[in-house]
Amino acid sequence: MSGAHSPSESFSVSRFLVVLIFAQLCLPHLHAQSHPKAADLLKQMTLEEKIAQLSQMPGFPIPEFKEQIGSEPEDMVRKYGAGSVLWVSDPKEINRWQHIAVDESRLHIPIMFGLDVIHGYHTIFPAPIAMASSWDPKMVEASQTIAAREARAAGIEWTFGPMVDIARDARWGRMVEGAGEDPYLGAAMARAQVLGFQGTDFTSPDHVMACVKHFAGYGAADGGRDYDSSYIPEELMWNVYLPPFKAAVDAGVGSVMSAYMDLNDVPASGNAWLLRDVLRDAWHFKGFVVSDAVAVHSLITHGYARDGEDAAYKAFSAGLNMDMASGTYLKFLAAEVKQGRISVKQIDDAVLPILEAKIRLGLFEHPYIDEARLPQVLGAPEHLAKSRTAAQRSVVLLRNEHNVLPLDKTGQGIKSIAVIGPLADAEDDLLGMWGAIVKPGPTVSIVRGIKEKVGGNVRVEFAHGPNIHRDIPSPFENIPFVTMKEQAAQSEDEARRAADDAVAVAKRCDMTVLVLGEIDLMSGESASRSSLKLSGGQEELLESVVALGKPVVLVLVNGRPLDISWAAEHVPAILEAWYPGSQGGSAVADVLFGDANPGGHLPVSWPRSTGQVPIYYNHNRTQAREDAPDFKSRYWDLPSSPLYPFGYGLSYTSFSFENLKLSAASARVGGHLDVSVDVTNTGARAGDAVAQLYIHQRAGSASRPVRQLKGFQRVNLEAGAKQTIHFTLGPDELQFWSPAMKRWVVEPEHFDVWVGEDSTAKLHEEFHLTR
Ligand code: NOJ
Repeated sequence: MSGAHSPSESFSVSRFLVVLIFAQLCLPHLHAQSHPKAADLLKQMTLEEKIAQLSQMPGFPIPEFKEQIGSEPEDMVRKYGAGSVLWVSDPKEINRWQHIAVDESRLHIPIMFGLDVIHGYHTIFPAPIAMASSWDPKMVEASQTIAAREARAAGIEWTFGPMVDIARDARWGRMVEGAGEDPYLGAAMARAQVLGFQGTDFTSPDHVMACVKHFAGYGAADGGRDYDSSYIPEELMWNVYLPPFKAAVDAGVGSVMSAYMDLNDVPASGNAWLLRDVLRDAWHFKGFVVSDAVAVHSLITHGYARDGEDAAYKAFSAGLNMDMASGTYLKFLAAEVKQGRISVKQIDDAVLPILEAKIRLGLFEHPYIDEARLPQVLGAPEHLAKSRTAAQRSVVLLRNEHNVLPLDKTGQGIKSIAVIGPLADAEDDLLGMWGAIVKPGPTVSIVRGIKEKVGGNVRVEFAHGPNIHRDIPSPFENIPFVTMKEQAAQSEDEARRAADDAVAVAKRCDMTVLVLGEIDLMSGESASRSSLKLSGGQEELLESVVALGKPVVLVLVNGRPLDISWAAEHVPAILEAWYPGSQGGSAVADVLFGDANPGGHLPVSWPRSTGQVPIYYNHNRTQAREDAPDFKSRYWDLPSSPLYPFGYGLSYTSFSFENLKLSAASARVGGHLDVSVDVTNTGARAGDAVAQLYIHQRAGSASRPVRQLKGFQRVNLEAGAKQTIHFTLGPDELQFWSPAMKRWVVEPEHFDVWVGEDSTAKLHEEFHLTR
């Protein structure tokens, strides 16, 4: 990182400036905007009551909270009220806590209940990486609208989503929770999710307030190890890691969650550059910031704060409104005010957006939930139908040699199918970690989905094969309300017998569907891995089944790309199902048997092996020409290209892209160009194409990525049908944050444009921007 452009330098200078400005102005815009009821309440509140609004109480025992506060969270609510309560998900319990706040606390201010409703509450939708694979923001918005409706009916007003962290390293377990590696796709998914959760604002009784997280840079954890430090130069923050957050803020997101890790040596939860310079000053964010769980207290553990008092001061003065569950604000903020290090006005400014959120959510009028209404809302048939469509639209067909897929369900061709693998009968494991943690309804397993699809026409036999489990168990298994479980450990003999049984089943059937991947605890929080190989004997099982010489379809259930290089050469059909949700088994069967045509495309570059990560398509060029034979960026034991490129995905039909046209060969900086392309369905059945537009700026004040996604559209085309698709290229698409200029620029330079089915699209045009 060059010293002249070192973000840590600019962070500290701007941080200093911001502290100065903040001390003088104390965010007057928040006061100017405040709701009269909020301002009125504020006048009546004691300092302790205000600090309670800045605190989220844990709804289950958290050691840090107990250590700081001593008394039960409920007693704190009784005495002072509370901004929010975390992780109470039982509707009865929610009403009970709410009664304490509303009936027993002095000012009767209701609690806002927060939970991780990331991709569904009862009806679980595909995991976020899967939904991003749909390249269908409208579907994603509609899915999150349903998630919001169910959550709200159950008393959850605040969800800790969307998670929009850019992830370029598949070792990082939380890649599953976001939209992958690309800032443009990530921003589209962020916007769609905020609109889905909140509606145009979050005042409707069917919506929840969203919380975009984890601000920011969490996905760049060193070595892909969850929670580890991120070192991200300022230009990468602005150009790659921040755009999805900006999109969420522009869509009106009500709250932001600060991340756990150090960003360039300053923990995100005490990082004034992030929380003030970027969020408030550059983006004019008006909502509130909550820490990640216990992250205020963790400022001590990071070695950033001396003690609890220092942690409270550093987090608060950096711009963090609400302390999630650590009790540090509760214990120390009042003393900070009394010592004059923090002013009452600063406290008021931090409390106001929290009170305003409660007002907008209608909590003062309707603090309780109607438990009797729940059965009509949770898992309603239309929700399940939408979840099934969402899963159909999210799966990605990676390989389909000789059109092995779709399979015949009539019994005219294949008479028997072996459905094999440690995830073939999985139910909760199809939900992904957050889906399994909330209040999921029943799930359709893949073997059940296949059985229901073929009815009596085809014999379906199931074998589990050897169990899979993590070498180091997940800490989530120890949390009392978490029901996720590992598959049991087996002796070598037991595992071998299970594998032999599975191969025997495959041998007596006409073909095999192998369902392999990761159980829910293998990806998500605290689920990073050093190797992307199929774990626990899955690769051996796959190779033994393929050796039988009969058709094999590999279905992957997982939260990140895995090393499937062998399969990519030897298994004729590979379908990436991700964690497909409550209706996953039915949706996968719909696709396998051709009742739905896959149209998902990868939101990540798929590595050939673990050694290639981090891998991403929008990297810069090197000093060597792309066609140079040597002295170029490469390994000597592996190509540098991914196994499957970003944006890749097959269909049961085929598409051609032709006639790429620009409205002009040049435009003024600040002007717009229309880009059009004809897409034709050249196959024999209807299907969805995802047209993707990439640009490259050939020279400028900084090296620019070889390609950058700047537009996409998923379109449905009947066999033989043709459609002309239009994209616009204007300042929003052509700007970048220049490390040389230290600001956003659109430069008068020469640009390339490609449109096609993935990030290797060949159809090319070019244009020039002039002053
Ligand atoms: C920790 C996770 O990092 C965050 O994503 C989540 O929202 C909180 N815990 C609350 O569950």
